[in-house]
Amino acid sequence: MPFTLNRLITMEDASFPYRLGTDCIDDIVARLAAHDASSYMVLSDTAVAELYGHDLAARIGKEAGPAHLLTHEVGERHKGLTTVGALADQALEKGADRRTVIVALGGGVTGNIAGLLASLLFRGVRFVHVPTSLVAQMDSVLSLKQAVNARLGKNLIGTFHQPVEVLADTAMLRTLPPREIRSGMGEVIKNAVAIRPTMIDRLGSMLNPQARYDDDTLRWIIAESLAAKADVTVDDRHERRSGLVLEYGHTTGHAIEHASGGQVAHGAGVALGMVVAAEVSRRLGHADAELVALHRDLVAAGGVEPVMPSYVDPVLVKHLLAYDNKRGYLDNRPGHTPMVLLEAPGRVLHTESPPTGPLPLVPVPLALLEEVVDETTRQGMHLAA
Ligand SMILES: NC(=O)c1ccc[n+]([C@@H]2O[C@H](COP(=O)([O-])OP(=O)(O)OC[C@H]3O[C@@H](n4cnc5c(N)ncnc54)[C@H](O)[C@@H]3O)[C@@H](O)[C@H]2O)c1
Repeated sequence: MPFTLNRLITMEDASFPYRLGTDCIDDIVARLAAHDASSYMVLSDTAVAELYGHDLAARIGKEAGPAHLLTHEVGERHKGLTTVGALADQALEKGADRRTVIVALGGGVTGNIAGLLASLLFRGVRFVHVPTSLVAQMDSVLSLKQAVNARLGKNLIGTFHQPVEVLADTAMLRTLPPREIRSGMGEVIKNAVAIRPTMIDRLGSMLNPQARYDDDTLRWIIAESLAAKADVTVDDRHERRSGLVLEYGHTTGHAIEHASGGQVAHGAGVALGMVVAAEVSRRLGHADAELVALHRDLVAAGGVEPVMPSYVDPVLVKHLLAYDNKRGYLDNRPGHTPMVLLEAPGRVLHTESPPTGPLPLVPVPLALLEEVVDETTRQGMHLAA
């Protein structure tokens, strides 16, 4: 089947096509061939390589040009500079040059590793996203941010580099484990509550803890997420102003994900992070209990994993909160960290920040945040039991 959605993603002066379909691998290969690369370096993690990587590299080799499959270990733990360096060496050994196209075949981890590698190799070569996880199809590929993790936190080392194209096939989501579908739903819920409240009713009726969604539903979810992200990034390619809203739930979410060594999936961390953010907003007097209940209901309906499993050290989580990557956007108030907070669905709180102007962030006392993290994560365990 051909692509059923062709949309130009525009972020200020950057733009690239996003093409989506179901069972559209032939079209994906045809689009890759159109880039007329000297070689194609298909990057994926070892699990995705087995499922789709060998096949895609073979098809590209037959129909487009020399293709090599380069792999990295599965998981967030391997999203670091060491992996990027090793892959750069392998790409060079395979003959990569300035006309090479890097194909990021995989989830958000591979997308970030490949995006950063593409921005560094010869100071910038072309790359195409072929996202295979829900997080990647509806979220991570819609960003110019290409970053990997540092010891002290997530996504702290990176660049901005735009893909030349995104080619997505919902058929690839059929092999995605339910844990990863639920993780994607965490980001979908974020788009709904923070940016696009018109999604909430329909989303609420289709969310299910078993994580079973048909292709029509997945295409709707992805199209809505494209629209939500476009709303906040069209005038903000670096996600430093209106696009900061996409960080909703990420202050606590990143800390939990990082403290768990990647065992808590990205979107599951974000889901809990949003519940924490709603409660923080309520305690600061900005939101009511209804907003907190809405968050809890949607997150539970999506079957997002139990929040603070026993293997996550809460002391480490609280330590990492102080290293969040939004530090420095607002005047550094001692003992505070900037967070995205809502007063109601789709209504984000702003703080004046000269000379940029109002930013969708609120300085939150770390002591209050830590208290809410402690309480919410205990309740979360209860919720999941
Ligand atoms: N702006 C951005 O760049 C941005 C935005 C959102 C998320 N992210 C990043 O994305 C990452 C999370 O992405 P993710 O959840 O896709 O993680 P991931 O890439 O680790 O994929 C999750 C798991 O799913 C497996 N998988 C992927 N596709 C599969 C398929 N079709 N069938 C079976 N298994 C499959 C992978 O092997 C892995 O085990 C985080 O590192 C996060 O920081 C970045």
